[in-house]
Amino acid sequence: MNIGKQKLDGNLILAPMSDVTNLPFRLLCKKYGASLVYSEMTSSEAVVRENQKTMTRGFTCKEERPLGIQLLGSNADSLVRSAHIITERYSPELIDVNLGCPAQNIIKNECGAALLEKPEVIREIIERLSGSLDVPLTAKIRVLRSLEETLKIARVIEKAGASALIVHGRTQKQQYSGKSNLDFIKGIKREISIPVIANGDIVDEKTAKHVLDYTQCDGLMIGRAAIGNPYIFRRLKHYLDKGELLPPQTSEERLDDFFEYEAMCRRYGLFSFRDLNVKAVWFTKGMKNIKPTRVEINKTKDIESLLGIMHGLRDNNISHIL
Ligand SMILES: Cc1cc2nc3c(=O)[nH]c(=O)nc-3n(C[C@H](O)[C@H](O)[C@H](O)COP(=O)(O)O)c2cc1C
Repeated sequence: MNIGKQKLDGNLILAPMSDVTNLPFRLLCKKYGASLVYSEMTSSEAVVRENQKTMTRGFTCKEERPLGIQLLGSNADSLVRSAHIITERYSPELIDVNLGCPAQNIIKNECGAALLEKPEVIREIIERLSGSLDVPLTAKIRVLRSLEETLKIARVIEKAGASALIVHGRTQKQQYSGKSNLDFIKGIKREISIPVIANGDIVDEKTAKHVLDYTQCDGLMIGRAAIGNPYIFRRLKHYLDKGELLPPQTSEERLDDFFEYEAMCRRYGLFSFRDLNVKAVWFTKGMKNIKPTRVEINKTKDIESLLGIMHGLRDNNISHIL
């Protein structure tokens, strides 16, 4: 699949996720076969103010390329300025605009999914960004109440110069409940010419194949199913390429991924106890008889106790299939 001038070696894409898709996690997904990874959303206003914590969201290295950095904002001037600051600092291969975040604090500031009610603002943002950037621009939307309304937005985005459209098939109101609407995604793919990437509820080989076949989209974006489980990209890729199911990952291999994540956090200066504590809970999900250990992980207050539990798990490991 190509997005504008950017060639991708496949069509499986890691979704942007706040507090999840930092550089070490993106590298794990890349190792297992993601063809494109996106950063956590980055506030354009904070970039313009040079907020250092925000800036680190785009922190990257050459092994993870191609990288898409996602921007959030509602003001075209700030979005353009922040896109230039970010491209100068990190040279991402793609920039994405968040037009789908449903969180109340984001909607209150008229960003994310709130913009879907304002096609004229979207037009200005996409036109200004695509006109001033050397890299392709993508936009990530949620669906609206009807296919017609959603198509109207999709056409505005295409006409204004975006190189691809990512569609999460839920409305803002649905947040994460209900199902992703594949009929709307399919309807959009049929009507516009830029690549369309389907997003929402892709959790395993069967759902990935179904979404691809049913919507005829160019690519798939995977979010929650990759949390604590970056190996999902290898399984999906193998199945879509060869039609065969890979054996599930063992808990030992999953723990190796966790320790690789920890090592990369240290290497890239992104290490924090709080983050690793959350990630330890995620990476142990689904392991056999793990509940009491996950409760213990949750209760840890320092890195030594946390790593003690995780090393103990690995030492006593009996290679359960997940
Ligand atoms: C923890 C979390 C953080 C997220 N952060 C972002 C974000 O920063 N930008 C964005 O566009 N979407 C964000 N999303 C939405 C996902 O990118 C994706 O659209 C959604 O989870 C549906 O896909 P899935 O069913 O594969 O998870 C987030 C979702 C989760 C669960």
